Amino acid sequence: MRFDISDVRTSHRLKKASQIPVSSRRLRKLTTMLDLTGKNALVTGIANNRSIAWGIAQQLHKAGANIGVSYLPDEKGKMEKKVAELVEPLNPSLFVPCDVQNEAQIQSTFAAIQEKWGKLDILIHCLAFANKEDLSGEFSNTSRAGFAKALEISTYSLIQLSAAAKPLMIEGGSILTLTYLGGDRVVPNYNVMGIAKAGLEMSVRYLASELGPQNIRVNAISAGPIRTLASSAVGGILEMIHHVEEVAPLRRTVTQLEVGNAAAFLCSDLASGITGQILYVDAGYEIMGM
Ligand SMILES: NC(=O)c1ccc[n+]([C@@H]2O[C@H](COP(=O)([O-])OP(=O)(O)OC[C@H]3O[C@@H](n4cnc5c(N)ncnc54)[C@H](O)[C@@H]3O)[C@@H](O)[C@H]2O)c1
Repeated sequence: MRFDISDVRTSHRLKKASQIPVSSRRLRKLTTMLDLTGKNALVTGIANNRSIAWGIAQQLHKAGANIGVSYLPDEKGKMEKKVAELVEPLNPSLFVPCDVQNEAQIQSTFAAIQEKWGKLDILIHCLAFANKEDLSGEFSNTSRAGFAKALEISTYSLIQLSAAAKPLMIEGGSILTLTYLGGDRVVPNYNVMGIAKAGLEMSVRYLASELGPQNIRVNAISAGPIRTLASSAVGGILEMIHHVEEVAPLRRTVTQLEVGNAAAFLCSDLASGITGQILYVDAGYEIMGM
C-alpha cells in the first residue's frame, strides 16, 4: 500500500499535525494487509476530478489494484473524452460506457470484464441521479416520474450491478456503494434522494446477506457533503457544507481522497470481517445531536 498522507494533508487547510487523520508511520505498518495487488476493480461514477469515484479510483490504484472504469456516455462523446483523459494516469485496463438505465450496456460491461480479466474482485458503485426540481422545495411535490427515475438510477442500479458482478467474483469480493445521512434523517432539500439512499442502505444489507456465503462483502460509505456535480443539484449544498464545518467534531467536511482511503480499507483484507455496514466518513457529523 503506497498511501501518501500528504494527499490528505494538502486537501485541507489543516492547522495542526494532530488534525491529520492517521500518521503515515502507522499506515506503513499495515502495508501488507492493505495491498490490493492482483485485485481487479471496476469503478463506476467518475464524471470529473471532483467526483468521489475519482478519489476512490486513485486510492485503489495506489493500493495496487488493477483499475477498470465505466462512464455515462453522451451523444457527443464529451464524457468519454473527459473521463479518459482524467483516468489515464491510472492506466485503466478496461474503459467502457455504462448507463445503468441501459440493460445492454450493463451486460456488455460485465462481458468485457469476463473477457479481459476473467474475474472481478471489487465493484465500486458511486453514482446517483435525481431531477433538480425534486431536490428542493416541498417533498410532497415529488413527481411519479422523478421518483421512479431517482430510485432506478440511484438504488436499483446497485442491485443490477451486484447481480452482474456475482458470477464474476469467483474468489469472493467486495462491493461498495456511496450513501448520505439524508437517507437516514431528514436533511432539507435532499427529498427524493433521501428515499433513494434509504432504499440503497437496505439493499446493502439484503445483498450482504445473500452474497456473504460466497465471501462477497457489501458495504456503504456515508460521506459528508462534498462539492461535486451531483451535489450541486441539491438545493443549499453550500449551506450544508458550512453547517458541517461548524458542527462536525473535526470542524470540517471530508475530501474525496479521504473517502477513497476508507474505500480502499473496506475493499481490502483488513476489512475481511465487515459486511452489510454503513461506514460514516463525515468528520464525525453523524454523532451530533445539535
Ligand atoms: N457529494 C456529496 O456530498 C455526497 C455525499 C454522500 C454521498 N454521495 C454519493 O456519492 C456518489 C457519487 O456522487 P458525487 O457526489 O461524486 O457526484 P458526481 O456527479 O461526480 O458523480 C455522480 C455520477 O453518477 C453518474 N451517473 C448518473 N446517472 C447515471 C446513469 N444513468 N448511469 C451511470 N452513471 C450515472 C454520473 O455520470 C456521475 O459520474 C453518489 O451516489 C452520491 O449520492 C455524494
